[in-house]
Amino acid sequence: MLIDSHAHLDDERFDKDRDTLIKSLKENGIDLVINPGSDVLSSIKSVSLSEQYENIYAAVGVHPHSAKEMDESTIEVLKSFTGREKVVAIGEIGLDYYYDNSPRDIQRQRFKEQLDLAKEVDLPAIIHSRDAAQETFDILKEAQDGSLKGVLHCYSGSVEMALEYIRLGFYISLGGPVTFKNAKMPKEVAKAVPLDRLLVETDSPYLTPEPNRGKRNEPIYVRYVAGTIAEIREIPFEEVATKTSENAKRLFRIK
Ligand code: NI
Repeated sequence: MLIDSHAHLDDERFDKDRDTLIKSLKENGIDLVINPGSDVLSSIKSVSLSEQYENIYAAVGVHPHSAKEMDESTIEVLKSFTGREKVVAIGEIGLDYYYDNSPRDIQRQRFKEQLDLAKEVDLPAIIHSRDAAQETFDILKEAQDGSLKGVLHCYSGSVEMALEYIRLGFYISLGGPVTFKNAKMPKEVAKAVPLDRLLVETDSPYLTPEPNRGKRNEPIYVRYVAGTIAEIREIPFEEVATKTSENAKRLFRIK
């Protein structure tokens, strides 16, 4: 069984078949899914999905794209959900200097505030980082007081930086891009990262892995991510499935 450590099943692209899809995950080898929020509304939707389905767990947080929409009350709203049993992380939060949908100083400020929240409520953080590798690392390093945990979601950076994150106490999650033929770095990372620090994910409905590129992504396609990692590491598929599931359960404290 696999865990999809990052999927947006609250996305409107699942409106037509969400219930069927979630109910058919088990028979398709998916034990459970972590569904992060990207703004307040999707965080609320994530929480309600987690309360409706036993195989969905939620994270609450505001994505850097929406950082500019946050105000003084947002942290309190997010915090109010963290006591729920199936809210297992703060996320997804971070920096996105590729799209720059929010001004960079605001992205940094809101990222730091949400890391403080993660520490305050003792939950791991799900980190989004795009074209902002060094600054993401610097902020996490500064925030790390020994209690901060988390995962670099859909990691696309170098092996060296991945190992730095691991030393800092973080996990590395790989998604669809590891299956892309020309994706050199994720493949190198898949080989180099210690297996006890690796998670797998889909980021559904985005980033669909081979051989389904172009279609809507779904949690069951996480098998292609795990399969590619198994090939690269020359180990059995089952070993990747077991280890990455154990890692996700350890990080998100799921029994
Ligand atoms: Ni995402």
